[in-house]
Amino acid sequence: MKILITGGAGFIGSYVVEELLTHKPEKIIIIDNFIRGREENMSNFIHNPIVEFVKGDIRDEKLLESLVAQVDYVFHMAALRINACAANPQEGFDVMLKATFNLAQYCVKYKIKKVIYSSSASVYGLAQHFPTPETDNPYNNQTFYGGAKLWGEQLFRNYKFMYGLDYVALRYFNVYGPRMDTDGKYTEVMIKWLDCIRDNRQPLIFGDGSTTMDFVYVQDVAKANVAALLADISDEAFNIGSQRETSLKELLEILLKVNSSNLQPKFMPENTINPVKRRLADISKAKKLLNFTPTITLEEGLKKLSEWYFSKQKSQNS
Ligand SMILES: NC(=O)c1ccc[n+]([C@@H]2O[C@H](COP(=O)([O-])OP(=O)(O)OC[C@H]3O[C@@H](n4cnc5c(N)ncnc54)[C@H](O)[C@@H]3O)[C@@H](O)[C@H]2O)c1
Repeated sequence: MKILITGGAGFIGSYVVEELLTHKPEKIIIIDNFIRGREENMSNFIHNPIVEFVKGDIRDEKLLESLVAQVDYVFHMAALRINACAANPQEGFDVMLKATFNLAQYCVKYKIKKVIYSSSASVYGLAQHFPTPETDNPYNNQTFYGGAKLWGEQLFRNYKFMYGLDYVALRYFNVYGPRMDTDGKYTEVMIKWLDCIRDNRQPLIFGDGSTTMDFVYVQDVAKANVAALLADISDEAFNIGSQRETSLKELLEILLKVNSSNLQPKFMPENTINPVKRRLADISKAKKLLNFTPTITLEEGLKKLSEWYFSKQKSQNS
C-alpha cells in the first residue's frame, strides 16, 4: 500500500511512520511545513528509500492534490496546536478547515481507500461522564481547535455517507513522550518540571493540582493509528487514551520519583481559567474494535521522556 501522512514530521506523525514501516508498505509520502515538525524527528527513517519527504504546506492545493493522487491511504495529522488556533483563528480556519476540506475532496476524487483522521479529546470540552465514552456530546467545547476537529470528523462522516469515503477518527487524549512539543498548552508543564529537576529548583503547581488528564504514550497512539488502518472498520470515532486519570499533583510526584528527586512542589495561586478540569477516556470501544491496549505505563513513559529530554539538552549544550 501507498500512504500519505500529513504532518508526518511532527511528534505523533513521526511515530506513525515508524510503526507503518514495520508493516513494509510500498511507499510513504510525508508532507510537513516544519511549523512544528523537525528533521530530527525523522532521523530513524528519512534515508529509507520507501519514505519520501515533501517539505510543503497542506494549504498548497496543487501540491496536496498531486500527493493524494499517488496513494491509497491517508493519515491526516497536520494541524495547528490549540493555542495557535486561538492566537490566529484565520490561520486555524485555513489549516484545520479549508485544507481538510480540500483533502477530503481529493480523497474522493482519487478513490482513497481509507482516511485516518487525528481528532482530539478537545471535541468534548468538559465531558459529561467519566470515563468519557465516544457518545458524550461536544456542546461543552469552547475552543476553535475543538470545534475544528469536530467539524473534520463530521466532514469525513458526511463524505462516507455521500461518497462512500471510508475513514476512522481517533480522539487522542494527552499524548506524551520523546519528541513531544516542549511548549504545548497542556503538556508544557512536564517540560517545565523537568527543567526544575535538572536545575534543582522547586517545581511550581498553579492551583491545587487537582486538574486531571489522561496521559497516553506516543508509541501506543501510533499503534492505534495503524490498527485503525488495518481493521475492517469505517465511519467510527475512537477515544485513544489510557483510561488512567492522573492529577497534576500525582504527575509531578511520579516525575520526581522516576528521576530520584526529593524536590517538593510549591503551590501558587491559579493564574489561568481552565474550563476542562477533568479528562478520563473510556477506551473500551477501541479495545474491542481496534484491539487497542496501551502498553507503556505512565512511570515507564515518564522515564523515557526524562531520558530523551535530558540527553537532548546535553547534546545541545555540547
Ligand atoms: N499531542 C497531543 O496530545 C494531541 C492530542 C489530541 C490531538 N492531537 C492531534 O494529533 C495530530 C498530531 O499532533 P502532534 O502532537 O504530533 O503535533 P505536531 O505539531 O508535532 O504535529 C503536527 C505536524 O503538522 C505540521 N503542520 C502544521 N500545519 C501544517 C501545514 N499547514 N502544512 C503542512 N504541515 C503542517 C507541523 O509542522 C507538525 O509537524 C494533530 O492533528 C493534533 O491536533 C494531538
